[in-house]
Amino acid sequence: MKMILAFLSLIFILSFSISIVDGAGLKVGYYWHTCPEAEGIISDVVGKAVRVNPGDAADLIRMHFHDCFVRGCDGSILIDSTAGNTAEKDSPANNPSLSGFDIIDAAKSRIEAKCPGVVSCADIVAYAARDSAHEVGGLMWAVEGGRRDGRISRASDIPGNLPPPSFDVNQLTQLFAQKQLSQDDMVTLSGAHSIGVSHCSSFSADRLYNFSGRGVQDPSMDPSYALQLKAKCPASSSSSSVVVPLDPLTPNNLDVKYYVDLQYKRGLLKSDQTLMSNDATSRLVRINTKYPTIWRRNFGMAMVKMGSIGVLSGSQGEIRKQCRVPN
Ligand code: HEM
Ligand SMILES: *[C@@H]1O[C@H](CO)[C@@H](O)[C@H](O)[C@H]1NC(C)=O
Repeated sequence: MKMILAFLSLIFILSFSISIVDGAGLKVGYYWHTCPEAEGIISDVVGKAVRVNPGDAADLIRMHFHDCFVRGCDGSILIDSTAGNTAEKDSPANNPSLSGFDIIDAAKSRIEAKCPGVVSCADIVAYAARDSAHEVGGLMWAVEGGRRDGRISRASDIPGNLPPPSFDVNQLTQLFAQKQLSQDDMVTLSGAHSIGVSHCSSFSADRLYNFSGRGVQDPSMDPSYALQLKAKCPASSSSSSVVVPLDPLTPNNLDVKYYVDLQYKRGLLKSDQTLMSNDATSRLVRINTKYPTIWRRNFGMAMVKMGSIGVLSGSQGEIRKQCRVPN
């Protein structure tokens, strides 16, 4: 009897551990044994930062996206440029708009003090994105760990891998498909634009002044919203440091108000409003508005899926000692 019980519990344990290991070799609770403090340290550091500056949450969520779409989720976004190499973070897609690197450094140094050489920088970014979403939206999902850090980061890898804000729905769908993400995932993840800001240069030509190169305003934008934006983003100053909220309704809350904006023609980027130009994507926009619980659940699942893009495992890559420099 004892034998049978032991056997049954072994099967149970095996099937459990298999079910939480995904195709990329990642699993939930990856550091529970090797660095049990890791997840707690990250949520503490992120929580303190975001409570002072909610904008940090937007940076950290976007950081995970930009890491994963370029060379996979390998922490390449964190590596500093050197004399001979311009790194991803110094590409125009990230500099000056992406910050939050100091928060990752702070978490990493506290973790290294507890368990040196165990927790990857790529994983810290993944946990920090989840903790950010929890702080500003109450969202929760189980983050899988086990990514290893890459050693290469090149600004020249950005074109073709990160979507520019000028993309239409077909271009977005195609690019996400290259990353094994569906059109539904794309719409769901675009809900991240319910927090954070954009520089005028990311949308003013496309939407306010030179739609389709015709010197006019984008007809798919609410004229009164366009008028407000023009006041903040004058035609002449496309290089200014002025920023405006991506979601004018609730700029600091991760919620479904972004999808409400779209239905009122108040999407900021061309890549936002374009989701209303297609039957399947506009349908999902309306569903998300109506059923926030469904969107919240789907957002967590899509973030987990995004977090498994091109990950390094086994003997690939390394566990970086400092997130800004390969070992
Ligand atoms: C669908 C294609 C996407 C495009 C074309 C796009 C483009 C952009 C652009 C142009 C900005 C503003 C940058 C600036 O000028 O300051 C931005 C901001 C942001 N993006 Fe996206 N994005 C996309 C998808 C995503 C996804 C999938 C996520 C995360 C899951 C995300 C998270 C964010 C966040 C949180 C911000 C605000 C950043 C801040 O306030 O610092 N975006 N995005
Ligand atoms: C508007 O776009 C067109 C086509 O891209 C370009 O030739 C023209 O110079 C732009 N006009 C302004 C005012 O930027």
